[in-house]
Amino acid sequence: MKLCVALDNDTLSENLALATKLKEYDIWLKVGFRAYIRDGKEFILALKEINPNFKIFLDLKLYDIPNTMADAAFEISQLGVDMFNVHASAGIKAMQTVMERIKDIPNRPLVLAVTALTSFDNDSFKNIYNENIANKATKFAIDTFRAGLDGVVCSAFESLAIKQNTSNKFITLTPGIRPFGEDSGDQQRVANIAIAKEELVDFIVVGRPIYKAANPAETVEKILKTF
Ligand code: C5P
Repeated sequence: MKLCVALDNDTLSENLALATKLKEYDIWLKVGFRAYIRDGKEFILALKEINPNFKIFLDLKLYDIPNTMADAAFEISQLGVDMFNVHASAGIKAMQTVMERIKDIPNRPLVLAVTALTSFDNDSFKNIYNENIANKATKFAIDTFRAGLDGVVCSAFESLAIKQNTSNKFITLTPGIRPFGEDSGDQQRVANIAIAKEELVDFIVVGRPIYKAANPAETVEKILKTF
């Protein structure tokens, strides 16, 4: 299992300070909408300068028509990030078009698709997708696998079923992790590390429990010791 720390602080300087505190650890860093919209490519370069071995997950959750998504995926692949994501609900055709566009790029980033956001509870998910989360997340994952992507973003509770319906090697990345029972915030389907392990999760994403901790490095170390 790998730890991916969400850099969701309010400012660029706080995010850089956090990355600096964590620079000795073998971790992934997640750059989301807010930081990327504000701080752009320079932010990614600055993170790699702090530690060239940091792996970067650019969490922009692409959702558009297939050609527009593929164009964006091509541009993302030039940024030097190690992983990015799209929405599975954009459809198989869109996901295939993305993979077709980037397949020959040397060391292309890993590509994941979001199944169901971990902030959905079952009722609010059903209102949009007319199906319960577990079934639909697995269906989205099968579409993603068939389209040739590397894995999915899902809740820890769906990881094992998704692997059983696709492949053990199909990556699962799970936000909504509260390693030691911390406050869930706006997340509905939160899990701890024991659940993530049982579910054979490949990447856990942890945001607030780390960047709001009094000592983020200590929290990261505590998490890594449980792996
Ligand atoms: O602070 P917390 O640990 O809840 O942060 C989770 C991070 O993962 C946030 O950056 C959020 O945008 C992201 N995320 C998520 N659910 C998804 C995909 C991404 O919570 N399905």
